[in-house]
Amino acid sequence: MTNAELSTSQQTVDNNNLPLLVAEDIIKIYKTGKIETQALRGVSFKVYPSEKLFLIGPSGSGKTTLVSIIAGMNKPTSGKVFWKYLTKDITRSSLEEIIKARRRFAGVIFQDSKLLLHLTVKENIELAGYYAKIKPSVVKEQTEFLLRFLGIWEKRNKKENTLSGGEKKRAAIATTLITNPKILIGDEPTGDLDALTSESILDLFERINKELGIAICVVTHSQQVASRADRILELRDGIIIGQHSSEIQLRKLEKSRLLEIDRQNRLSIPTNIIQNLNNPKHFSIISQKGKIVLEPIFEPNRFKNNNQIITCSMCGKMVTDDSKFCNYCGSAITARSEKNE
Ligand SMILES: Nc1ncnc2c1ncn2[C@@H]1O[C@H](COP(=O)(O)OP(=O)(O)O)[C@@H](O)[C@H]1O
Ligand SMILES: [Mg+2]
Repeated sequence: MTNAELSTSQQTVDNNNLPLLVAEDIIKIYKTGKIETQALRGVSFKVYPSEKLFLIGPSGSGKTTLVSIIAGMNKPTSGKVFWKYLTKDITRSSLEEIIKARRRFAGVIFQDSKLLLHLTVKENIELAGYYAKIKPSVVKEQTEFLLRFLGIWEKRNKKENTLSGGEKKRAAIATTLITNPKILIGDEPTGDLDALTSESILDLFERINKELGIAICVVTHSQQVASRADRILELRDGIIIGQHSSEIQLRKLEKSRLLEIDRQNRLSIPTNIIQNLNNPKHFSIISQKGKIVLEPIFEPNRFKNNNQIITCSMCGKMVTDDSKFCNYCGSAITARSEKNE
C-alpha cells in the first residue's frame, strides 16, 4: 500500500468504523527518587476493528509503556484510554472493572508470557476460560478449536517444561484467545525466539487477524512483520512522529514515513535531515503554494525581519524587541537596553 492509499484508506476507516481502542494524549512520567523520566509526552492514536497495527521505535522510546497503558496494566500520569464496549475511560476505572472488561476485550501477550508449570497446555487454556467465567461447554469446545488452530493439538497433555519456545508461545497465545477477544496486544512477543520460530509465530498472528478477525496492536522489530501491517506507528522520545505503510524498510524509515502532526501540533523533524543541514536550532517557517517551507537560521539572536532578541526583565525569558508584552509571563517589555547581542 502506498502512502497516498494509506491516508485515503485511513479516512475511509475513520468514516465507516468506530475504533476499538482510543488513546488520547497519554503522558507518563516515571519518578524514581528525585529523577523524573517522561516516557510518553502526549500520545494519541486509534485502533480499528480487524486492523493490523504495529508499533516501532528505538529502545527507550516508550513502546512498552504505551502498550502496558492501553492494555490497562499501567496507569498514565494523564490522558485517556477507551475500549469499545466500555463507555468509561479505563484510566479512571478500578482494577476490578479493568480486569473484568479486559477478559472479553483484549488478549495480552508479552515476551515472558508464561504458563502455569503444574498444568498441561490444555488445562492452562481451560483455566483461563473458567477465570473469565465462560460456560464450561464453550471452554471445552473453544480449547479444542484453539489447540488445532494454533498447531499444538499433539502437545495438549504436555506441561510447559517439555515444550519448545515456539510451542510455549502458541500455548500462551491460546490462553489469551480463549475469551474470544477483539484485539491482541503484544510487546515484542517473539523477541525471545530464534528467527525461524519467530517467523512461524508471526504467521500465526496473521492468521489470527485474517481468520478470526481479531485486531492486532503489537510492538515489533521484525521487518517481515512490519511488511504485513495495515499501518505502522513510529514512536520516538515518547511521541508518535510518523506513520508508515506496509512498504516500510526498517533500515530506511524516511522512505515510507508520513510525518505526523500530533494533537498538540507538534511535528518531529527526523534527525538525519537536521544533521544534513548542519544541525540548525532555529528555522523560519513560510506557507508557500500549499507547502510549508522551513529555512534554517544559524544566527539564533537575529530573526529574518531584523528583530533582535532581548531578555524580559521580569522572567528572564527571551523575546523579540518589537514585543509589547512578554510571551511567557505577560509583563510589559520595557528593558530595551538588555540586548543579547
Ligand atoms: N518502571 C520504570 N521506572 C522508571 N523509568 C522507566 C520505567 N519503565 C520505563 N522507564 C523509562 O521510560 C522510558 C521508556 O521506556 P520503555 O517504555 O520501556 O521504552 P521501550 O519499550 O521503547 O524501550 C525509558 O527512558 C525507560 O528508562
Ligand atoms: Mg520495550
